[in-house]
Amino acid sequence: MRVDRAGLVEEARRSGTLVGLPPGHFIDGRFVASISGAEMESFDPGRGVPFATFAAGDAADVARAVAAARAAFSGPWSRLTPAARGEILMRASQLLRERAARFAVVETLDSGKLLSEAEGDVGGVVRCLAYYAGAADKLQGDSVPLGPDYLGVTIEEPVGVVAQIVPWNYPLSTAARGIAPALAAGCTLVVKPAEQTPFTTLMLAELLHEAGLPEGVLNVVAGTGADAGAALVGHPGIDHITFTGSVATGQRVMQAAAEHVTRLQLELGGKSPVVLMADCEIETAVEGVIGAIYENAGQICSAGARLIVEDAIAEEVLSRLVARVEAMTLGHGLSKAQIGPINSPQQLARVSAHVERARTAGNRILAGGGVVPPEQCGGGWFYRPTIILAQGMDDPLVQEEIFGPVLTVQIVTGLEEAIAAANATSYALVAGIYTCDHASAWRFARAVDAGQVYINEFFAGGVAMPFGGNRKSGFGRAKGMAGLRSYCKLKSVVARL
Ligand code: NAI
Ligand code: MG
Repeated sequence: MRVDRAGLVEEARRSGTLVGLPPGHFIDGRFVASISGAEMESFDPGRGVPFATFAAGDAADVARAVAAARAAFSGPWSRLTPAARGEILMRASQLLRERAARFAVVETLDSGKLLSEAEGDVGGVVRCLAYYAGAADKLQGDSVPLGPDYLGVTIEEPVGVVAQIVPWNYPLSTAARGIAPALAAGCTLVVKPAEQTPFTTLMLAELLHEAGLPEGVLNVVAGTGADAGAALVGHPGIDHITFTGSVATGQRVMQAAAEHVTRLQLELGGKSPVVLMADCEIETAVEGVIGAIYENAGQICSAGARLIVEDAIAEEVLSRLVARVEAMTLGHGLSKAQIGPINSPQQLARVSAHVERARTAGNRILAGGGVVPPEQCGGGWFYRPTIILAQGMDDPLVQEEIFGPVLTVQIVTGLEEAIAAANATSYALVAGIYTCDHASAWRFARAVDAGQVYINEFFAGGVAMPFGGNRKSGFGRAKGMAGLRSYCKLKSVVARL
């Protein structure tokens, strides 16, 4: 198997695929076929063709994986010290650094994203594994002052068997931000990657076992949401569910969790605002907006999908944005393009439907606004980077997540109006502001409802900062020490002395 970047890119370009992709589900420490024998195809969105098959699981495969995870939880895994768990994660981080190129090329083929972005994702996962490797033996509880006759302590215990459902937009990084803290806490897992992008999650499971993870601690069952996902979240052997995806599916997962009173955390969508105040550094801010909405072709839960700009600079900002967007090149993730494809024909159709509805409603389209004909882009699923003016707060362009390269523009007259506009949707995931005035920045940070606020750099942070949403964007936090505590149950112990 090749590991060098240039060789892998060459192989993928020439053959359209890579040899040695994971051959099945990963259950109890090895790759296995589906019990039913079912398989599915995964597509290369940049060319619009299937490039590999994978095992398609159902309730029977899920039952097998949950049984393996349950046995591992009460088996040798529970006797390892936190420091020993951390060592496995650290070895996995080092192994992934060595194999980063292979993971990135597979992620590009499977999801469509640009290779440079996939490399960024893999680098983030190297760091995520190292972060939780170091955190594993720092999960300290409290001692609680109860007076001279008592001793009260709290203990963080692993919650048990975790089910994680992963979406297709950030396959490896979303999987890792559940897997790494859950393992650090001492949990075992069954992970279901999206049916569009199963491969890097399966590869990560294999790599963690190479790094020393005992059999059954981390299992991956691939397949559809209907067949594998629903069976997993409804399984009585699951103690905690981590779901990332759409609001509608999140609601179904929440209902399934209610059946067995399973704990859960949901990271759902967003319609996140990026505010540009008149006193911002315009060039920095414009580049910030471009990255916030066009990275991964806008298929980001925390995309900065709404530009809220103060009227004094609106004309200049919009003309700069339009010029930038019109110069952007679209192409396959392995090419030198600046924007990659949309992950699936279904998602391409959703993006297109949002924009066509706006066009019919008379919204002004300032740039883009259309599907690229497949013959012009190697057969792939591409949408032109788009900028559209909103018409009031009730405009569906303001209220609805599009999950594609479409920037909605709202023009406001000052900070208070910007805050009101930022808070005017049912989502509350992230919010950004560009301003040189600290008072405005901090007033915004306190007044906006969002899980995270970015001042003068969108997406700033990394694995050490907790991440998650409020309102319809979900609840619970990934990343940081808060992400580690998600996988713990707190026990209070009081002794009468
Ligand atoms: P989805 O929420 O249906 O899929 C996400 C994951 O959930 C996949 O692994 C899927 O197989 C699984 N799933 C589906 N039904 C399930 C069920 N009943 N029980 C358990 N798991 C289930 O999202 P989809 O259909 O791929 O995309 C629809 C929209 O969702 C997008 O247009 C976008 O707006 C949003 N989305 C948001 C994401 C985020 O990061 N917050 C990620 C992906 C999609
Ligand atoms: Mg794919």
